[in-house]
Amino acid sequence: MHGNDAAPGRGLWTSRLAFILAATGSAVGLGNVWRFPYVTGENGGGAFVLLYVVCVAAVGLPIMMAEVMLGRRARRNPIDAMRSLAEQEGRSPQWVWVGRMGMAAGFLILSFYSVIAGWILAYVFRMAGGVFHNAQDAETVGRVFTDLISDPERLLAWHTIFMVITVAIVARGVEHGLERAVRYLMPALFGILVLLFVYAATTPAFLEGVEFMFVPDFGKLSGQAVLEAMGMAFFSLSLGMGAIMVYGSYLPREASIARTCITVAAADTAVALLAGMVIFPIVFSNGLAPAQGPGLVFTTLPLAFAQMPLGTLVGTLFFILLVFAAVTSSISLLEPPVAWLLENGRMDRAKAAGICGFIAWVLGLGTIFSFNIWADYKWTLSLDFTRVQYVLFRDKTFFDIVDFLTANIMLPLGGLLIALFAAHLMRRESCEDELAMDGWHFNLWYFLLRYVAPVAVGLIFLNAIGVFGWVGGGGG
Ligand code: TRP
Repeated sequence: MHGNDAAPGRGLWTSRLAFILAATGSAVGLGNVWRFPYVTGENGGGAFVLLYVVCVAAVGLPIMMAEVMLGRRARRNPIDAMRSLAEQEGRSPQWVWVGRMGMAAGFLILSFYSVIAGWILAYVFRMAGGVFHNAQDAETVGRVFTDLISDPERLLAWHTIFMVITVAIVARGVEHGLERAVRYLMPALFGILVLLFVYAATTPAFLEGVEFMFVPDFGKLSGQAVLEAMGMAFFSLSLGMGAIMVYGSYLPREASIARTCITVAAADTAVALLAGMVIFPIVFSNGLAPAQGPGLVFTTLPLAFAQMPLGTLVGTLFFILLVFAAVTSSISLLEPPVAWLLENGRMDRAKAAGICGFIAWVLGLGTIFSFNIWADYKWTLSLDFTRVQYVLFRDKTFFDIVDFLTANIMLPLGGLLIALFAAHLMRRESCEDELAMDGWHFNLWYFLLRYVAPVAVGLIFLNAIGVFGWVGGGGG
């Protein structure tokens, strides 16, 4: 990073490409390979996938552009960015709450993200050690996974290691090494996914798997599934909590925001769809359940590696690359609060990263225990009125709740507020000036941000708690 048009003391990406790489690094991660497939499986496939893609294009992309725009315009961490933009535009200082809620969401997401990334780390060693070499059947592979998650000490160790890695990188400044990691390792990850896809195409249930993903059956779609699809789009694009805003705050003035965001969203969606097309054929070919939950990748991919030539090597490489993908995402979750502390707290980067990482680490304990000693603690939250009952969620573990509240509530809410602020409260000329798009494209973006995104998010929220059905809701 160099510093010509940045605020004093702040860095700047060296080029538009550096930003694309960083933002793609943030977007592509466990969300694509771990979360997207299992959430798709739980929500019945095709119709969910279609909605997800629509949400990415019609809601996610416009909001992503807005987030980058706000970050670049303010050149500050999300909390101070919202404060200074609100002031510039003559609006209430309460808009800082968008930044604050985003940071809270970031801590919560990082807390479970690190735990799951820990599972990936554990799998690097299981693959390399040849654990799956002769484990050609789904049952043995499933047992390896259950053994791992039922041992809190092991999970704690891996969670700690992953968090230390994240903190160490953020402590040095996110740009160091990031560029290379994303430029070479992401395409390598994509390459192995393509290889896995070729393998998946040889399995007996290939067509069944692809059909599951792409043939929509809207009858299976509940209000909650629609909410999940939107939440998945926000999660996968790293939207709604200020991560992309912080990255945008380091973006040079001359870079085109629209083109950049389209590239990032397209790459992110391609990886998610490809991961699904690999995993579902394996699921159906081995008689596994698509709706088995967060263990889905861990019980399917090892089967593929066990049956592939050079599977141990390719599998080990795959999990290593996935660790890199997870790190380039986790650093973007830690960066907003670290940038805030740096710009307000009179401390150095290392200390700020250490403090924030520790908070997320502690919160992560709840996720660890959700898979073993707290597995039986489940909560339901509903608002009961005399005539109606709104079910917010039902029978969820601690991890399920944190995941649900962040991805499905906090991120879309943050995105909704960002859209309202940028498209209704900021002067149109401010947006035009920052985005520098030609008229037709600008109008399309403005329309999507002003009307389509807020209305979609609002309706999906109301629909999910059953407002339109009047009883019970789709709670699931
Ligand atoms: N998008 C990342 C993934 O798919 C996760 C992530 C990184 C994220 N930063 C974020 C999610 C900010 C929401 C908000 O793995």
